[in-house]
Amino acid sequence: MNGRGIELINVSKDFAGDDGKITALADISLSIGPGEYIGILGLNGSGKSTLARILNGLVKPNTGKVYVNGIDLDSPGRLTEVRQIVGMVFQNPDNQLVCPVVAEEVSFGPENLGLPSSEVDSRVDWSLRLVGLEDKKHHAPHLLSGGQKQKVALASVLAMRPDYLILDEPTSMLDPSSRWDVLEYLRKVNAENGITIVLISHNPEDLIHASRLIVLDRGSIYLQGSPREVYSEVDKLAAIGLEPPGIYNLINRLEREGYRIDGAIETIPQLVESLCRI
Ligand SMILES: Nc1ncnc2c1ncn2[C@@H]1O[C@H](COP(=O)(O)OP(=O)(O)OP(=O)(O)O)[C@@H](O)[C@H]1O
Ligand SMILES: [Mg+2]
Repeated sequence: MNGRGIELINVSKDFAGDDGKITALADISLSIGPGEYIGILGLNGSGKSTLARILNGLVKPNTGKVYVNGIDLDSPGRLTEVRQIVGMVFQNPDNQLVCPVVAEEVSFGPENLGLPSSEVDSRVDWSLRLVGLEDKKHHAPHLLSGGQKQKVALASVLAMRPDYLILDEPTSMLDPSSRWDVLEYLRKVNAENGITIVLISHNPEDLIHASRLIVLDRGSIYLQGSPREVYSEVDKLAAIGLEPPGIYNLINRLEREGYRIDGAIETIPQLVESLCRI
């Protein structure tokens, strides 16, 4: 495997449960290209977190192969490098923050890479600016709001200058306004900085900016495609207990009424604009 991208080939993962084997992932093959924004959707226990952890080597599959920018995750001694290339943000910011001051938190990773202090400083400023927290640089993370803490966690990972950012339910503990903030920063780092995003959520509304959706069901890929393609499969989604976000319900209804809505639509104003063109 050469070149940039993440490649999973026939990946399966079992865990030992109380009543025998639990299959978390069953024969997943998947390519993630540089610059993509992928949304991963699925109900509780469908294998989302296991998949996330496999992408940066935190979990090792039982069978199958994983390559990150051509690096075989089985090759000895490469995991530190892989974890710098593939950054992870988790659900609970409190579990991700360890330093008493925001600037220290964000500089922790780059300092461990042995970078010169001028480079560390510029990365800290760059990533705090990216998430709109320049003014909190000298604050204590534990005194910030949940949303601000999650943004510090995001800045700490961005300061490592990852190619890929994997986020496992990063908004599920946030209030709606911080949630939209975080989603907007992710859209920005993808569009403006070319960082590949893999955003996991059980909430379809969170995945509105994704260019490709992957729906997991009981460890397998159940549906895959553009949001328009996936969210038009209303019956298939309902069969596993999922529902399209409101805007797609509206698009689906308009299309059933005979209106043709072109292109990727993420917001109501875009939908209105598209309707006005008809
Ligand atoms: N370390 C583990 N030990 C045993 N079983 C596990 C372990 N991690 C995951 N599992 C099981 O594997 C399956 C998939 O779990 P996973 O956490 O990947 O799902 P998920 O889609 O992230 O769920 P959630 O929405 O609840 O976060 C579940 O049945 C879970 O109980
Ligand atoms: Mg999970």
